[in-house]
Amino acid sequence: MSSKRYILKRRKDILTRDFIGNTPIRRCHYLSSQYNTNIFIKEEFHNPGMSSKDRPALFMIEEAIRNGKIKPGGTFVEASSGNTGYGLAMIAREMGYTSKIFVSKSCSLEKVEILKSVGAEVEICDNSNGLHDFYSTQFKAQSYAANNTNSYFTNQYYNSSNIKAHYRTTAPEIWNQMKGEVTHFIAGIGTGGTISGVGRFFKEKNINVKIWGVEPIGSILSHFLAHGTLPEEYKTLEPIEGIGRTFIPGSLDINSVDKIFQIGILDSESAAQEYKNKTGFLAGFSSAAIIATLKKHINDLALKPTDSIVLLFPDHGSRYLSKLYSKSNIVNEKSKINC
Ligand SMILES: Cc1ncc(COP(=O)(O)O)c(C=O)c1O
Repeated sequence: MSSKRYILKRRKDILTRDFIGNTPIRRCHYLSSQYNTNIFIKEEFHNPGMSSKDRPALFMIEEAIRNGKIKPGGTFVEASSGNTGYGLAMIAREMGYTSKIFVSKSCSLEKVEILKSVGAEVEICDNSNGLHDFYSTQFKAQSYAANNTNSYFTNQYYNSSNIKAHYRTTAPEIWNQMKGEVTHFIAGIGTGGTISGVGRFFKEKNINVKIWGVEPIGSILSHFLAHGTLPEEYKTLEPIEGIGRTFIPGSLDINSVDKIFQIGILDSESAAQEYKNKTGFLAGFSSAAIIATLKKHINDLALKPTDSIVLLFPDHGSRYLSKLYSKSNIVNEKSKINC
């Protein structure tokens, strides 16, 4: 039992947000034996909002209140694939604020319902292509905040508290849990906050730790990392929720990342099914993209039996039942092994 859970028994003034962070990490025996190395999973779905995005949500809210950017009772506004929105809405509500969340139409039904359940007002937009696109979640969120008094756009794509949350909490947690024995860290990239915060911290500890990102086909971040320019032609972005961008977010610190792999939606879907059948675990969509990346690129990765690879699973497959699992949601018990 974690110390925070122990405290809860004795104190009555603990808030939901006090339970953010200190998520478990565990060795994945299935992937470790499949690739003859040591693979660990940082299980971020143990956060109260059930995703890693509770961390930046809390940092952004606290920073805004501390610096007088919003007054009591105001509205926090965000453009989100759902997880930041939920963390934000949950924390805001508990602190006496309201929330308005702009999601793109590719957001799962489950996420929209979960947002509404914590009192968020939800608006569905055409895309999340960035501030320059009139129909995007980011543009709509910014203009809503500009036109409504006492509302504040947290703007996770350009808010330094996003990276800071992962630099100050996620990264040291993993480092301590692994006793500094990390050779690789792999995370999906959306705003870039997770990989930048963790990557920066790990590189300061040991410059040799490899920091690898995952993005869907059609995203432009791997091109930007490799060439330092935007691509001349844009492909359609494959919709894997939470990851992939057609613009360069300000919260992506490219210097903290060594390589970005691209993966397709079909590979990610079949990785989710295979992982579920082998382990009984429902991986979130972007977590499945990481598993698919391992499978697809395993020959390029040159992983050694002595390596320790940490995969960050930002959320849980229960958020994607309708998208990923509804067609075959029965675990194949015969093939199930311990994960
Ligand atoms: C499910 C999921 N995976 C990955 C990410 C990417 O994390 P980051 O925005 O820190 O790059 C997000 C971000 O919203 C997410 O919701």
